[in-house]
Amino acid sequence: MNPTYDFTGQVALVTGAASGMGLATAHAFAEAGAAVVLADLNADALDQAARQLTAAGHQVLAAACDVTDEGQVAAMVDQTVHAFGRLDMAFNNAGIQIPPADAADEDIEVFDRVNAINLRGVWACMKHELRQMRTQGSGAIVNCSSLGGLVGIPGRASYHASKHGVIGITKSAALEYAPRGIRINAVCPGTIDTPMVTDMIANGELDRAQAEADQPIARLGRADEIAQAVLWLSSPGASFVVGVALPVDGGYVAR
Ligand code: NAI
Repeated sequence: MNPTYDFTGQVALVTGAASGMGLATAHAFAEAGAAVVLADLNADALDQAARQLTAAGHQVLAAACDVTDEGQVAAMVDQTVHAFGRLDMAFNNAGIQIPPADAADEDIEVFDRVNAINLRGVWACMKHELRQMRTQGSGAIVNCSSLGGLVGIPGRASYHASKHGVIGITKSAALEYAPRGIRINAVCPGTIDTPMVTDMIANGELDRAQAEADQPIARLGRADEIAQAVLWLSSPGASFVVGVALPVDGGYVAR
């Protein structure tokens, strides 16, 4: 059973909304009554996701956006405010995984790419969301980190650098904006059964049975379980929660 939220009259923005956790979170925000802005690089998948939500009677705006391009990010937030008049909640979730590599052999291009999307993308989104939220004097932002923001794993230095960075900007901005009525937190998913993980399994980068065994709860997480954490962090129920990096990982980092 899921708890219910009432976000009627509020506006939620989700990046990476065409797939996986972003898609599940966009659905959850819409079902809780929010107008939802879906932002993603993949225009076809974005269009499909937006059609599905619109057909279900929700208020939806699809914004094609590459989060590595600050101009596109700024335009996405402008579109949001133009369409719905405000921005109350944002889930900065767009991200990629990269193949594992020996830390001594990783290409600089791969390091730059994963950090441009996973870290600088969150930075750009948060920057432009805050410009709107500070004029309102209210808002809640959830940035997507990972268990990779909390621990190291051999072969994963560049990805984990990006996700540790997300926690750094989350905490600092959270301290800056808590006195101004805006709460900023991060969610740290464990291994979640999304297309990203399906691809890792298909590529032989991850063994499903091993991944299940690695999580104390002995299964992979579901995208809707991350959505529920994001909705709670965005809700008045989390009104005293500021600057946390919340593991939602079946116990992975508790060991
Ligand atoms: P996914 O691959 O299913 O979805 C990611 C979405 O982000 C896709 O729709 C993709 O088009 C979009 N995207 C990629 N680059 C983009 C860009 N430059 N601009 C805009 N959109 C872009 O992945 P999933 O699993 O839902 O991951 C979502 C987030 O969660 C990512 O930040 C990922 O690093 C993080 N994460 C995932 C975990 C997992 O086990 N699936 C575990 C921990 C964190």
